[in-house]
Amino acid sequence: MPETAPLRLGIAGLGTVGVGVVRIVRKHAALLAARAGRPVEIAAVSARSRDKDRGIDIGRYGWEDDPVALARREDVDVVVELMGGSDGPAKATVEAAIRAGKDVVTANKALLAHHGQELARAAEAAGSVLRFEAAVAGGIPVVKALTEGLAGNEITRVMGVMNGTCNYILTRMEATRQGYDALFDEAHKLGYLEADPQLDVGGIDAGHKLALLAAIAFGTQVNFEAVEIEGIEQIELRDIEEAAAMGYRIKLLGVARMTGRGLEQRMSPCLVPANSPLGQLEGGTNMVVIDGDSVGQIVLRGAGAGEGPTASAVIGDVIDIARGFRVSTFGVSAGDLVAATPARAAVPAPYYLRMELIDKPGAMAKVAAVLGEAGVSIDRMRQHGHSAPTAPVIFVTHKCARAQIDAALVGMSQTGVVAGAPVAIRIEEV
Ligand code: NAP
Ligand code: HSE
Repeated sequence: MPETAPLRLGIAGLGTVGVGVVRIVRKHAALLAARAGRPVEIAAVSARSRDKDRGIDIGRYGWEDDPVALARREDVDVVVELMGGSDGPAKATVEAAIRAGKDVVTANKALLAHHGQELARAAEAAGSVLRFEAAVAGGIPVVKALTEGLAGNEITRVMGVMNGTCNYILTRMEATRQGYDALFDEAHKLGYLEADPQLDVGGIDAGHKLALLAAIAFGTQVNFEAVEIEGIEQIELRDIEEAAAMGYRIKLLGVARMTGRGLEQRMSPCLVPANSPLGQLEGGTNMVVIDGDSVGQIVLRGAGAGEGPTASAVIGDVIDIARGFRVSTFGVSAGDLVAATPARAAVPAPYYLRMELIDKPGAMAKVAAVLGEAGVSIDRMRQHGHSAPTAPVIFVTHKCARAQIDAALVGMSQTGVVAGAPVAIRIEEV
């Protein structure tokens, strides 16, 4: 017999996403009940401040100052964790909910990237489900796509732009011809940045998301520490303009691939063709590209953050639970997830190199020699816009391995003709 009693939610966290969830539960009560086959209700909520004006009336719900107490309430069936943070109250709340035999829905990628394996195991042992659609790519149902719609495929690659803030900064730099610092400030004023902005611009938030998708796609234990991460802080307006002149745009791109050597996971700025779907991605939008052996390529695109889109994903998980659909956190039993060997990205690619060369005789020859010694062949070179005593120089290389570029960068630092640290960006023909 399907369950018809109301599904009672306990919402821990009433910020951007929590308020969005409350709004959907209220606005679409009849729709949700019809789709779930039972009413979906909010039993109780928790946040730091009870008195804060959130633009919604929370007086009708039970209140807990302590989210762990919320997780233990008898009148709560599903704990919806929307506080954030990889440890602290979020982890304690999810653990308490699982111990109390409750199902859990969270949007917290940091928590799952660091503790997803142990939490998934604990949930399974307790007979609970732990779902996290909203944690990856906001409103895009990519977790569902991988665990359900594409379950019949061997996934060969997951790739995408998964941090809206970085994409906003990069696309606004090109549109406004302003530098990174000005656009970082703009994103900050608009409230786009995480409480710790380094999570966004350092590529860490997107790295969390990639690690979660890789676990589902390849049936592997979440291994965030193995993600090779580079942020966007070193990208300058001139890199964006040089890329545009060559028909490329710069994106913070995540790629996860299972190879014969192990699991590659990298999140780094890349030049992608400007006319490709990834190249055309504007503002805070996310895109995930999935390759499966039977389906071919799937492209999912949509809002990667914000109240409505993220709450939409949370409610999708809630409805699944209300319907009695119980899927393992990462699509297979946590005990069956394998520990993949981390592998460095080895597929050769052309690289964009930008450096400040001391403007004196022989400088270019020294740098060219270093590239040659590393086995890196130069495809194109551009030098313009001198401002003594240095000259900005751009090289585009033929395809080579990242390890060769790294060796060349070390060599360049020892030539005495390169000022500061060169920038190396992979060119990805997506
Ligand atoms: P937020 O606006 O900062 O809200 C956090 C909420 O948690 C606040 O209501 C805060 O209470 C509450 N809180 C914090 N510590 C608490 C504690 N110790 N006890 C009780 N309540 C506590 O965060 P958000 O943007 O909604 O994000 C929530 C989660 O969703 C995070 O994991 C985030 O990474 C994830 N996420 C967010 C987005 C997005 O677009 N915002 C997108 C995808 C995923 P007060 O309001 O009283 O301070
Ligand atoms: N800071 C994240 C982003 C929020 O910019 O994409 C959504 O996870």
